Formats: sequence, C-alpha cells, structure tokens
Amino acid sequence: MESQDSKYIGRVLGLMRICCIGAGYVGGPTMAMIAQKCPNLTVAVVDLNQERIDAWNSDDLPIYEPGLLGVVQEARGRNLFFSTDIDENLKEADVVFISVNTPTKDYGSGAGQAADLRYVESCARRIAEVGGGDKIVVEKSTVPVRTAHMVKEILSESPNGHAYQVVSNPEFLAEGTAMRDLANPDRVLIGGGTDEEGRKAVEQVAGIYRNWIPEESIITTNLWSSELSKLTANAFLAQRISSINAISALCEATGADVDEVARAIGTDSRIGPKFLKSSVGFGGSCFQKDILNLTYLCGHFGLPEVASYWSQVVEMNDYQKERFVGRILDNMFNTVSGKSIAILGYAFKKDTNDVRESPAIAVCQRLLEEKADLRIYDPKVKATSILYSLGWTEEEASGRITFCGDAEEACQGTHAIALLTEWDEFKDIDFDGVFDKMSKPAYFFDGRNLIDPELLRKAGFRAFAIGKE
Ligand SMILES: NC(=O)c1ccc[n+]([C@@H]2O[C@H](COP(=O)([O-])OP(=O)(O)OC[C@H]3O[C@@H](n4cnc5c(N)ncnc54)[C@H](O)[C@@H]3O)[C@@H](O)[C@H]2O)c1
Repeated sequence: MESQDSKYIGRVLGLMRICCIGAGYVGGPTMAMIAQKCPNLTVAVVDLNQERIDAWNSDDLPIYEPGLLGVVQEARGRNLFFSTDIDENLKEADVVFISVNTPTKDYGSGAGQAADLRYVESCARRIAEVGGGDKIVVEKSTVPVRTAHMVKEILSESPNGHAYQVVSNPEFLAEGTAMRDLANPDRVLIGGGTDEEGRKAVEQVAGIYRNWIPEESIITTNLWSSELSKLTANAFLAQRISSINAISALCEATGADVDEVARAIGTDSRIGPKFLKSSVGFGGSCFQKDILNLTYLCGHFGLPEVASYWSQVVEMNDYQKERFVGRILDNMFNTVSGKSIAILGYAFKKDTNDVRESPAIAVCQRLLEEKADLRIYDPKVKATSILYSLGWTEEEASGRITFCGDAEEACQGTHAIALLTEWDEFKDIDFDGVFDKMSKPAYFFDGRNLIDPELLRKAGFRAFAIGKE
C-alpha cells in the first residue's frame, strides 16, 4: 500500500488530483483558474446537472464572465474536465472541493434566514460512501460557522477506514470580475485543524495556490475563523452599500448629491473610496443570503441585538428598491397603469448573466403590479431567466413583457426608461434619438447613476438619478 509520505511526495511532484463538486459560478471559474495555473494537477469539475456540464464542455459556457472562455479553452481536455460522473472522480481525488449552492432555507426551522446545508451534507455523505483513499475535503461554498464540524462528523463516522481532513477555503471572487479576482486575489484564506494533520492539510491546499499567488497573500487561520470571515466580509460589503443608499435618500430630500458626498468621504483613508456607489440596491446570490444567515446564527447563539443590527442592512436594501419604484410613481402622476416602461439591464451587475436577487426583479415585479407594460433589454441575460425570476410564464407575459434585441429598440414608444444595470454599452446610447421616439413627457430613472442627468435633460428627458434632486 502507498504510504502517506509517498502520497505526499506525489502531490509535491504535482500529481495531485482535484475534484470539485458543483459546476456553478464559483466551481467553474475557480477550477478553470487552478487548472490553468497548475498544469501538473488534474482538475475534474462534477455536477448533477447534465445540461450545465454539457455547456461547460462547449464554447457556449453556462455562465458569462469576461476572460473565462479563454482560460477554459486553454485547460479543458488537458488537465481540466467537466463531468457528471461524480463517484468515479471523487474516488480518484486527493483533494475534494465542495462548491455547491447554500441557499437560504425556504422551509421548516430557520426558513427565510438559515442556510440550507442539505447540498453540502449530501456531498459529505457521497465522499464518505465512494471512499477511494484518504482525502482533504475543502469547503469552498459559503457556510455558517461550524459547518466543518458536521462535514467532519459524517466523514469520520464512515466505515471505509480512510482518513479525512476538512479545510475551509471560502471564495471571495466577485461576479463580473471573477477571472481578475482569481488571478490576483487580495488574499486566499485557508482555515484548518490546529493539530499536526490539520496543519499539513492546510499546507497542501496552500501549495496549490502558491503556484501563482504570493506567500503574503495566503492567510491561514483556524476553521471557525475562516468560515466566519466569509460571512463577515459579505456583511461589511453589503453594509457599505446600504449605508450610502441610506444617505442617498437624505440627499434627495435635502439637495445634497450622493456622488459628491461619496467622493468627499471616500478620500478619508479610514473610509476609502471603494464600494461607495449608490444605486437601486445590491443583488446577487450572496449578500442577502449571507447576512440572513449571519442574523440567524446570532439569534441561535443568543445575540438578538447583533442579529437586529445586521438585519437592518437587508431592510435598507429592500427600502431602496421600493423607494426607486415610489419615485417612478410619484413623478409619473401616481400611475403607470397601461404605460410602457423600458428596462435597461436586468443582471444584478454588469458583466454577468446572473439575475439571482437582482434588484431588477423587485422593481419589475412592482411595476407589473402597478399594471405597467415592460420592454426589457439586457446584453447577456436570456428571456427565459428573466421570466423564471419573475415567476411568469411565456403566456402570462404575452402583451405585458416584450424582450428586445437592443437598448434603442427597448425604449421605442415608451413613456419612461428605468436603467437597472450599469452595462458600459448604455453610456453610448444616442439619447437624443431615443427621446424623439418616446411618448412625452419622457422620463429617465437611472438606478445606477450611470448617465449624466444634465445630458439627459438637454435631450429633453425628465431625468432622475439616485441621491440627487
Ligand atoms: N456566486 C458568487 O459570486 C459566489 C462568490 C463566493 C462564494 N459563493 C458561494 O459558493 C457556493 C456556490 O455558489 P454558486 O454561485 O457557484 O452556486 P451555483 O448554484 O451557481 O452552483 C452550484 C452547483 O452545485 C450543483 N450541485 C448541488 N448539489 C450537488 C451535488 N450534491 N452533487 C453535485 N452537484 C451539486 C448544482 O447543480 C449547481 O450547478 C455558495 O455557497 C455561494 O454562497 C458564491
């Protein structure tokens, strides 16, 4: 039998085999980057979803990220593989990354707040069942603090006799800039057990990243600090957005300009300039879910004051979306019934096709409730994803929602434009030409402060931006 040492030497020589469970927005790009940077490692990304795997094996990838296709094309078939054969790839692997979804629970105890860990748990059970040798199991998914305890329990109770080490390695990439973030991360965080075997496992995972990441950017901690750091980072980031959005409401009431306030405070080195852009609200699959999860954990550990502090961040975000719709109604004579509104952008941010928790969902749902007709254009989001996110069928949408091939087409004949995603191409729209083809008075509600309102007013629009009079 192969000794632990010879296996370790094999890994050092670059013979390590990685299997990642979950071929989503995190699993796909992260593993593609590891495979590109570590040509001596074999990386298999597995998923239950055949359609997703087929797309990863084509040039029409299931997710849009600038630069992703090139990296996948370079490594795919060489040392990067996408497969639905979960068991075989798990058996072969020395290191298993768990990168499955951890959504907010929508049933039973903790519904609406706690993370649903059933997918993580089923991965741990599968790893234990297939066996195949000793393994390091890496939590890549965002999980509540102490989840590694559950994973360890499942693995250590397995009768297969293999040894497992559990390591936490949360992912900090941001969609839209994922490849840049992965190539040059602010830090890589690795948490593990504090005994000798635990430290060895952390070292081995760090060894993967050392292929392209400088030593000083690799932070190691204990398991619980690593798990909690990911939730904390997302809570702080979302909190900044809700803070500046709260100030945007006050700006609109007082004549201050939120962009000027952001610039003025951002020059304070203690505050810093990033993440101070006011908008219609934050979205994406993570911020809300992770704060709700943090809130739930605080409640669970008997800290209701801390829970209510963080839940305000989500409440402020909901308020901002509703305030945006309220402003549309207020300015359009309190009704949009039967009026046509162009929706420019639907993804939760530019450079991604992800619509999970996009503020566009809440805004469009409210406008539809108010009986507006929508003409929607997004450069990367498919009509099917939009309908799914709204909970509408194609038949229900007929006559109420029109999907358009470009921004100018979407605006044609409408009473108002709501810009909801900051896609660069919207900066190049010919607003004079668009204005001419709209019903008058023509309104422009900029949910991202992307277009200079003075330019829009010159074209003839009644223009409204976030946090500006
Ligand atoms: N999306 C982001 O920007 C981001 C950033 C950092 C961290 N995260 C975290 O990473 C995790 C994954 O997020 P995502 O956005 O990639 O999710 P995703 O929904 O895009 O992908 C998850 C994939 O896991 C697969 N899956 C679920 N259970 C499985 C199982 N038992 N076996 C095989 N495949 C299974 C699903 O089919 C799906 O394709 C989450 O915990 C998330 O919070 C996400």
